[in-house]
Amino acid sequence: MNKPLTLITGADKGMGFEIAKELGQAGHHILLGSRNKDRGITAVNTLQQEGITANLILLDVADETSIIAAQQAITSDFGKLDNLINNAGITLDNWEKPSTLAIEKIRGDFDVNFFGLVSVTQHMLPLLSKSTSSKIINISSAVGSLTVASDPTSSVYKHFSFGYQASKAAVNMFTIDLANELKDTQITVNSVNPGWVATDSDVGGGPKTIKEGVARTVELALQPTNSISGTFSDTDGIVPW
Ligand SMILES: NC(=O)c1ccc[n+]([C@@H]2O[C@H](COP(=O)([O-])OP(=O)(O)OC[C@H]3O[C@@H](n4cnc5c(N)ncnc54)[C@H](OP(=O)(O)O)[C@@H]3O)[C@@H](O)[C@H]2O)c1
Repeated sequence: MNKPLTLITGADKGMGFEIAKELGQAGHHILLGSRNKDRGITAVNTLQQEGITANLILLDVADETSIIAAQQAITSDFGKLDNLINNAGITLDNWEKPSTLAIEKIRGDFDVNFFGLVSVTQHMLPLLSKSTSSKIINISSAVGSLTVASDPTSSVYKHFSFGYQASKAAVNMFTIDLANELKDTQITVNSVNPGWVATDSDVGGGPKTIKEGVARTVELALQPTNSISGTFSDTDGIVPW
């Protein structure tokens, strides 16, 4: 049980599954978070067939009861957690104008992408603090960068996905504030921009492959010194907040 123990939310498909596979291949013990039991079992079986150590953690990040149950299961089975990768995310609004976008859709984006991410992190922090070196990686997006979104020369400038964008900007603020709070601990906190990636998600269909989309997250998760905290980055370097 000397393998780093890594929980990835929304890991039964898309980038979450690829992160699980690549970190598993690199020697991590994967706790594969999924809210869909059948898909979660299939995903864990696929990893195990590749020789990866993996367990299913049923986890709906928008459901407090589910988060508590997941936290209790990890506590009783492992007693700690080394890494948390907050990957689960949805986009309920695409190409809808901020002037008319339904509040329910904005709330829906925030329930998963922001409140869910914050709640999972808060519940997992006692377990992460039992590790000698732990990392929290929040999967954000360049469309949530206020600097990029307000730059008329950027492609994001014309991107109408206000609820999703705002939820990712809020995630970035959580990264900054939590990294600051934890700066004297062994826990680092960072945001990552995958880029525009061909997945099932509504913002997907982009030019990057899934492997390219997870590259920065995997690099950060495997960083041996765990010396980077409070950053927003992608494979090209630092992304402006
Ligand atoms: N694709 C892109 O171009 C792109 C760009 C920037 C950022 N991102 C971000 O990257 C992350 C992964 O996205 P992806 O493109 O790989 O999307 P994806 O293929 O749609 O996968 C998203 C995963 O999150 C899960 N999920 C959604 N709501 C959940 C909830 N309440 N609880 C637990 N799991 C939940 C999904 O499960 P269900 O199928 O059950 O909903 C699925 O397993 C997201 O945070 C996304 O915002 C994506």
